[in-house]
Amino acid sequence: MAPNIEDIEEEQRQFSNVISTFHNYERYSLSANNRRRKDIYTLPRRDQELLDGLGYKQKLDAVDKAILVNAEFLAQIVEDTDLFQGDDQGEEQIQIPPHHDTHSTNQDRSHSYSHDLKHGSHGKGNIQKKYKPTDFDFDKLRSTLKQFVRDWSSEGKIERDSCYEPLKEALVAHYAHVPPEERHQLRVLVPGAGLGRLAFDVAKLGFSCQGNEFSHYMLLSSFFVLNKTTEIKKHTIYPYVHSFSNAPNQQSILQAISIPDVLPSDLPEGSNFSLVAGDFEEIYGTESDPQEPQHGKWDAILTCFFIDTAKNIVNYLRIIHQILALGGIWINLGPLLWHWENNNTNDPSIELDMQELKTLMTKMGFEISNERAIDTTYTNNAQSMLGYVYKASMWTATKKS
Ligand SMILES: C[S@@+](CC[C@H](N)C(=O)[O-])C[C@H]1O[C@@H](n2cnc3c(N)ncnc32)[C@H](O)[C@@H]1O
Repeated sequence: MAPNIEDIEEEQRQFSNVISTFHNYERYSLSANNRRRKDIYTLPRRDQELLDGLGYKQKLDAVDKAILVNAEFLAQIVEDTDLFQGDDQGEEQIQIPPHHDTHSTNQDRSHSYSHDLKHGSHGKGNIQKKYKPTDFDFDKLRSTLKQFVRDWSSEGKIERDSCYEPLKEALVAHYAHVPPEERHQLRVLVPGAGLGRLAFDVAKLGFSCQGNEFSHYMLLSSFFVLNKTTEIKKHTIYPYVHSFSNAPNQQSILQAISIPDVLPSDLPEGSNFSLVAGDFEEIYGTESDPQEPQHGKWDAILTCFFIDTAKNIVNYLRIIHQILALGGIWINLGPLLWHWENNNTNDPSIELDMQELKTLMTKMGFEISNERAIDTTYTNNAQSMLGYVYKASMWTATKKS
């Protein structure tokens, strides 16, 4: 169904708000750091002198510089945003460079797996200049910087090895009978693709792979890294300068991360890799595009830290089941951190425990195998004094009926 004019306007408004957030990062972050500076002057003189002796002010100056570097990087991401704007008809978005195919999005509700996961909504405002990004917006932008570490840095390798490797291994093992040069015949979908690394890696293994994502933060950023990055370690960011909590030393706050660790254009000739923008339920849950039928068309679906983004997990499962070919597999890895639990927007949220989820899967026609728990982190600062470890659940579910 074609989007109506309100949908298109809402889409453009949200997109414009996200761009505003990118542009306001510098002002907002410098001001947050300046608050620390001002707080020093509220202290008695002798306390100020003691802090001086520690080099605390110099640390604040170094953080300012790092923020400016981040701001420069973020500005590059949103430099050519015209590429992403929908046309007057509200048609699918334009700019389809090789390997990176974007369709329109109609909402943005990205989440980070952090302990302070919050729910919130975007403020109102029609055009970029009028919109004042909220703390919630900046929180998402800061999470995006950390997501770059997870997906596209060598520092993120430990995390990727614990999450993406088991998924890829299970995929390759299941299709071990298919020679690598014939893998392109197998269609793999990665919903909730984030910054696209898992989908990229799957394509690199030779499978035809499509990622799907609906967050503008993620889409803009993955577009940038996948299509506009020409050199390994081309960009430097400082993802950990925004919080001084649980820092064992300055280095943990001021560590520079270089991205990318691999060249995104370095896919073998003839690779089939795309990222589709939009809501998973809308794109894959309806047969809206006759050019691209979904039912029974996917050989494998890989979900990593995704299924708990569902408001209605029954519908996620139904869609996954529906679009898989008979005998196709759904490989999952992730926790059950229900993203919509306790939301303040009156959205429904069905929050099953793992046992209920597995019973539901069986009822829907899946056979579960290769089940295990995997200890893993999500956008973790390895140098922090605080680290959350998920006992993520992994399985392969085969569509049997
Ligand atoms: C926790 S992140 C995981 C990202 C990535 N899979 C990873 O492991 O790094 C969940 C992702 O799913 C995306 N997402 C959530 N609901 C979605 C939906 N209905 N359709 C498409 N993407 C969605 C979010 O924007 C976010 O990028």
